[in-house]
Amino acid sequence: MLITCQAGFEALLVRELAELHGTPAVEHGPGWVRIAAAGAESAVPAVPAAGAPPSAATPERLRMCSQLVFAHLTLVSPIEVRGDSVNGLAARIAEFFLASLRNERIEVAWPNIWQGPAELVGLGRRISGVEHALGELVKKKLSRVARLARAEVPRGVSAAPVRGLFVFFADFGRVFVAREAFVHGQQRMADDDLAPSRSYLKVEEAYAVLGREPQAGETVCDLGAAPGGWSYSAAKRGARVLAIDNGPLKGGALDHPQIEHRREDAFRFAPESGVVFDWLFCDLVEEPHHVLQHIVEPWLARGWCRRFVINLKFGRVDAIALLRELQAPGSAFSLHAPGTAMRHLYHDREELTLVGDVRQA
Ligand SMILES: C[S@@+](CC[C@H](N)C(=O)[O-])C[C@H]1O[C@@H](n2cnc3c(N)ncnc32)[C@H](O)[C@@H]1O
Repeated sequence: MLITCQAGFEALLVRELAELHGTPAVEHGPGWVRIAAAGAESAVPAVPAAGAPPSAATPERLRMCSQLVFAHLTLVSPIEVRGDSVNGLAARIAEFFLASLRNERIEVAWPNIWQGPAELVGLGRRISGVEHALGELVKKKLSRVARLARAEVPRGVSAAPVRGLFVFFADFGRVFVAREAFVHGQQRMADDDLAPSRSYLKVEEAYAVLGREPQAGETVCDLGAAPGGWSYSAAKRGARVLAIDNGPLKGGALDHPQIEHRREDAFRFAPESGVVFDWLFCDLVEEPHHVLQHIVEPWLARGWCRRFVINLKFGRVDAIALLRELQAPGSAFSLHAPGTAMRHLYHDREELTLVGDVRQA
């Protein structure tokens, strides 16, 4: 398997795999980590003989991948292609792709995803060159299949690996290619001119992981709301937002008719008796254990919200030790919101985002 992550966070993904799942990495580079298929040798097969399918990953491996927090895309059983020229790489990838299509009928749009570390200057041009050359080769043989290609990663978290063509350039002449990938749900989001902060992008991305976003008429309590990116995101969908922060709201959140701003301490705030918010948002720049003990625990245990988007900053703590605590059977998430998804989002920095539904009493 080849697992991608945000560049600069591969060391944490390596540790997550090793310390939380007992799975050692075989190698890693900027924005990617490679692990062996369970029971397999560490080497990735080079282009197999035409028609030979890649070896399937075990269900245990796939289950483990679905729980990874730092992973963005997991290429299942990739082959490794090497070559010096654009046309040479395209020809080898085409050989693999066309052979793998022999017993397959493609009737619907399929993801055609080409990625590589942005840190490698000039790699983007090479990727587009190979992608274009491959497109031409596929068009010549199977124009209908080529027309159904889509460049977007499917939205949301995939319950099972998605079929398509997934190509990851580890370097200019070294490429991993897979027909299946597990989609962990992270996505680059579009900005909004009225959004008062970059944080806005995080909550928008979090909705895609949860598979749900605030609806008109729903209620949101936003703890640590200023300058108001998250509040604005909910309010523009018609939700009613209570924004708690001593700081000022700005941009589209300032004086928004759907947003009530209260200058209060988020750690002292509790809903009035009998009030249950549809959503808890929490994006406090605070030590994560403090947030867990004084906000997450009471809000989830007492059922003060139905679902949540919570961002925990791990800059001052060990991220993997924190994850171990969050995933432990006795954590507030395991006890009160067992399906919680934990992710290092595309728009996250040294922080984790948790989304989930609170178990109703
Ligand atoms: C990262 S910012 C939140 C950004 C916000 N989610 C957005 O989209 O614009 C963190 C906020 O937490 C607020 N904050 C920190 N401690 C707080 C507390 N005890 N009570 C209320 N707000 C607090 C800060 O004032 C700051 O505005």
